[in-house]
Amino acid sequence: MAKQVRKAVFPVGGLGTRFLPATKAMPKEMLPVVDKPLVQYAVEEALDAGIEEIIFVTGRGKAAIEDFFDHSVELRQVLGERGKDAELHAIDVPVLEPGRVAYTRQQDALGLGHAVWCARELVGDEPFAVLLADDLVMAETPCLKQMLDVYTKTSGNVVAVVDVPKEHTERYGILEIASDDGRLAEVTGMVEKPDPDDAPSTLSIIGRYILLPRVFDYLSDRKTGAGGEIQLTDSMARMIGEAPFHGLRFEGIRFDCGDKSGFFEANVAFALARAELHDQVQEVINRYANGSDR
Ligand code: G1P
Repeated sequence: MAKQVRKAVFPVGGLGTRFLPATKAMPKEMLPVVDKPLVQYAVEEALDAGIEEIIFVTGRGKAAIEDFFDHSVELRQVLGERGKDAELHAIDVPVLEPGRVAYTRQQDALGLGHAVWCARELVGDEPFAVLLADDLVMAETPCLKQMLDVYTKTSGNVVAVVDVPKEHTERYGILEIASDDGRLAEVTGMVEKPDPDDAPSTLSIIGRYILLPRVFDYLSDRKTGAGGEIQLTDSMARMIGEAPFHGLRFEGIRFDCGDKSGFFEANVAFALARAELHDQVQEVINRYANGSDR
């Protein structure tokens, strides 16, 4: 029987250079989509999927993330005195139970593979999930839950994937696949950010992974890859053939919030999905779509 996936790693140490100056003094994971920070969506997805322990790999300038998942004593007091119950609820929802959250620090931004490796002692010898908060997924069944269902059947590594336009392969980890039933594809290789001309497919990995602890052995080599960084993709590739490895075309929509237009689109989609905002936002969109700028 597959060992249960209890822990999820959230690498949140990245510099967020694509969103400067907004991220000069604030973590990119705290950028809001409508009124919730990106990282809250990802943590809620993990908890909804049954994850028991949240492990953040942070870095310098990321203290706001720790404060966000903790109590805010002053705010609670002020909101309580003013009888603002809805707001009180909103600030209490993200608070993570003591003992179910851990923070470790990536001192140098050496790449995603290095960030995951920093969590090795906290994860230990068990399968675990990795979620990248700047990939935001809108789905009826949480994307990670869909992946866990695959893991339960295969006991192997699982990555969530989407088809991207050929010219975008150089932005992502790209799979080489064998059998493919349109939903689940068997992975035979993968490469980080290949040139469109060299890409083995257009099936791109999004920031959702279920990995066997074996990956830490490969990450320990600290070999650099694309962009001079220690890439998670390179160590995952070395596990192919040792254990089952699948790419799942999940049901849902992924917004690449590491990209400005993807982030904007996420704000539109999530605002439209909110009953209390829908009509107002739709009216604004229609107005601009009709060529009026006011
Ligand atoms: C990272 C991974 C890449 C993956 C992408 C998903 O890239 O290295 O394989 O496709 O996340 O968002 P980054 O966005 O950090 O450049």
